[in-house]
Amino acid sequence: ERSDAVPRDLVGRRFVVSAGGTREPLDPVRFLGNRSSGKQGYAIARLAAQRGASVTLVAAHTAGLADPAAVEVVHVSTAEQLRVAVNKHAAGADAVVMSAAVADFRPSTVAAAKIKKGEREPDTIALTKNADILAGLVQARRDGALAPSTVIVGFAAETGDDHGSVLEYARAKLARKGCDLLVVNAVGEGRAFEVDDNDGWLLAADGTQTPLEFGSKALMSSRVLDAVAGQLS
Ligand code: CTP
Ligand code: CA
Repeated sequence: ERSDAVPRDLVGRRFVVSAGGTREPLDPVRFLGNRSSGKQGYAIARLAAQRGASVTLVAAHTAGLADPAAVEVVHVSTAEQLRVAVNKHAAGADAVVMSAAVADFRPSTVAAAKIKKGEREPDTIALTKNADILAGLVQARRDGALAPSTVIVGFAAETGDDHGSVLEYARAKLARKGCDLLVVNAVGEGRAFEVDDNDGWLLAADGTQTPLEFGSKALMSSRVLDAVAGQLS
């Protein structure tokens, strides 16, 4: 047996994976976006399919990634579209992996026509909070709309600051979100965004904390799926 053989441990399982960055429109030609490449979520979706799962990838905007083979891909743009698609496909799923970079806010109004430069100084952009999709999934499971056995995975890109370390912020976020696993990427100094490798930790709701050593996103994906597989009943 080859040591790099992919286990077929997810046969019969249904996964929903979100990936990429949402775009929140301001007018017909402009949006608020983020730098997510989608690479981590795509790698997880691809590997879950290789391990035998039936996978729906809810894909927002990426750095031009091609749809992975043997994966159902649902393309979306805004956070609200992503929320609707994830919730639709989460019903009946064994695991939902929220690797998308969802915009926290959207412009409160979307101009029907292109905003003109005009003579005056520009207006400020009023923002409205988007729904928290991950927290909504946890709530839906609590309410019985999702099966109690559904494994819910969140991602967090964190930086440390004067008030706390990456891990302290991540543990607080895991508790706040109520998900089962939180994949933590340490960002800053050019890490995690727009690169092929990243590093961090895998935090579980039971308090366990596994370092994800520096490596490829493919390796990170296999670690994440190993942890999810361990929680599937
Ligand atoms: N997420 C989500 N819906 C949102 C925002 C985030 O589902 N509106 C998900 C992301 O996909 C990710 C997790 O929540 O899996 C953590 O995202 P993050 O931005 O780190 O968390 P926030 O609660 O938005 O906190 P912060 O203030 O640090 O941005
Ligand atoms: Ca956020």
